[in-house]
Amino acid sequence: MKRYTEFEFSAGLRWTHWLRALAIFVLIVTGFYLAYVFIVPAASDEPVVFLNAKFRMWHEIAGFLLIAVTIFKAYLFVIDRQSAKERIAFMDILSLKVWFQQIKYYLFIGKHPELKGAYNPLQFVAYIGLYAMVFLVSLTGLILYVHMYQAGGIGAALYDYMRPIEAMMGGLAMVREIHHITMWGIMLFIPVHIYMAIFNSIMGREGSMDSIISGYRYNKTTKH
Ligand code: HEM
Repeated sequence: MKRYTEFEFSAGLRWTHWLRALAIFVLIVTGFYLAYVFIVPAASDEPVVFLNAKFRMWHEIAGFLLIAVTIFKAYLFVIDRQSAKERIAFMDILSLKVWFQQIKYYLFIGKHPELKGAYNPLQFVAYIGLYAMVFLVSLTGLILYVHMYQAGGIGAALYDYMRPIEAMMGGLAMVREIHHITMWGIMLFIPVHIYMAIFNSIMGREGSMDSIISGYRYNKTTKH
């Protein structure tokens, strides 16, 4: 069968994907440390080790990277011409027929549905869920952050806005709990996401894994 290359994902979309993957990886490792100190440095007479502060620093750097990249990605989703394929995928969510076809495909009892956009409905809904979790983890992360840096900068600028949200969430201890539980939600997403990416690459044979690296996939039917 002849295959045609199709430009699917813009450079901005691919960079934001991998930067977020990196940020989330760093956040999970350092977040686990902040929740439960799993390494202890060698004892020192001088107050120079500050391991906890270093872990927190990297957590906050990765946290602000995640926030910045997510805002840029949301902007691309709305205005980027190449991201029209993502926006159009919303139409398939509205079709019950496509939902059933997709589920049958995953159960090996049907063919892959013809999709209008870049994502199938299950995939798109999973991504909306991920964005909701990233929003919540970022909001609770910023609430925790403003309690450490109130003297100036972003901490001072956000302090007055974060305090009422903190009260609405039930106080700082609760905010920390929500932040931690949301991490587990994001951690559940990752293996499913990787499994589905491999599944679709093998079953679809259209290079869907390649497209998040090179931007191109191989389309069996249409010429571009
Ligand atoms: C995928 C995203 C993230 C994950 C998985 C994550 C995970 C965690 C975890 C597990 C903790 C420890 C909570 C506990 O004590 O049980 C924590 C603390 C914290 N996180 Fe995050 N976090 C994320 C994003 C963010 C963001 C976007 C910010 C904002 C800058 C942030 C700022 C903080 C701060 C300030 C703390 C408290 C540090 C301390 O108490 O010393 N986090 N995070």
